[in-house]
Order: sequence, then C-alpha cells, then structure tokens
Amino acid sequence: MYEKLNEIKEKCLNCKKCPLHASRTNVVFSDGVANSKLVLVGEAPGYWEDMKGLPFVGRAGQLLDKIFECVNLSRKEHVYICNTIKCRPPENRNPLPEEKEACKEYLDKQLEILKPKIILICGSVALNSLLPNEKGITRARGKWFDGPNGAKMMPIFHPSYLLRNDSREKGSPKWLMWQDIKEVKRMYDTL
Ligand code: URA
Ligand code: SF4
Repeated sequence: MYEKLNEIKEKCLNCKKCPLHASRTNVVFSDGVANSKLVLVGEAPGYWEDMKGLPFVGRAGQLLDKIFECVNLSRKEHVYICNTIKCRPPENRNPLPEEKEACKEYLDKQLEILKPKIILICGSVALNSLLPNEKGITRARGKWFDGPNGAKMMPIFHPSYLLRNDSREKGSPKWLMWQDIKEVKRMYDTL
C-alpha cells in the first residue's frame, strides 16, 4: 500500500496537468495514517497548506482536528486526510471544473489503494466531485451513501463554514456537525 501511494504521490509532485502547477509552492498530497478506516476528503489547499505541503493545517484544519478530538480520533492515529485538488487555486478561489477533472485521477487512485471503510466528504466542492448528483451540502450532510469498494460515505460541513457560523444552538451548523461526527464515530466503532 505504501509503495503504491508513494508512486501516486511522486506523480503528483511532478504533475503539470493543469495550470495550478505554475502558482503552487508545494503539492499537498495527504496527511495522517494510510492504513486507516477513515478518510476525509476536503476541498483544495489554502495558503498554509501550500506553504507546508500538508492538508488542513490552517484555521479550518485546527478546527477539524478539534472536531475529531471530541470523538477521540486524530490524524496521528486514525484518520487519513486529502483533498480533491492537490495544488492551491490562486486567492483560494474554487477550483475550476477542468482543474477538478485533471486532478480527479489522483484522488480516485488514493481511494482505490486505501480502501477506507468510511469516506467523509468535507464541504460542497468535495461533494460535487464524489456525489455529483447531490443538490447541496446542507441537504446531503449527515446521510450515508455508498462509495467505492463498499465504503460508506458521509458528506459533512466544511470547517471553514463553521468558522463563519458561531452559533451552537440546536439546528445550527456547529450543532449539526456535532450530530454528524457522533454518528461517524458510532459507525467507525462498528466497522
Ligand atoms: N480546506 C480544505 O478543504 N483543505 C485543506 O487542505 C485546507 C483547507
Ligand atoms: Fe496536477 Fe492536480 Fe496539481 Fe493540477 S492540481 S497540477 S492536476 S496535481
């Protein structure tokens, strides 16, 4: 598994398949543990991710780590993290359809090699890549879908969305995230 992953990583590090290669500082391939039951797929690298070459290391990433911590999961031991796009779009704009198309083969291969039991689809960009028929993250979040190799997939809100919505009241995005992550942990413990 590690050898195959490294092969794909090496390809990504040298990739020039889409124009994002020209403005990147680092390719952001993954973080966390490869032989994990749980893979989280985010959107695209931001400023800090591009600087460090690791996914989810900025403010949204810190919140994501806290959310996992609440259910005793961590990227050091239990979770593998990657993105739909491996290079940072300028000014953090949404990736263009042709950029997502160009990069999709790497995500597909990552998932094929990792064969996770659970795939968390984090935010609307990842939702659009992995479940293109779903109408939006607000409607799709919290539900289980069938994924590749028998994986269960659940869309969840992106932590940057939670950073913009402070309320913890019942029905708020943070409250919904708490329901979702508890359900994810429940499923994780049964698999
Ligand atoms: N947001 C993402 O979707 N991915 C990252 O790696 C960082 C922020
Ligand atoms: Fe290649 Fe993906 Fe980077 Fe585009 S975003 S250059 S397809 S690795």
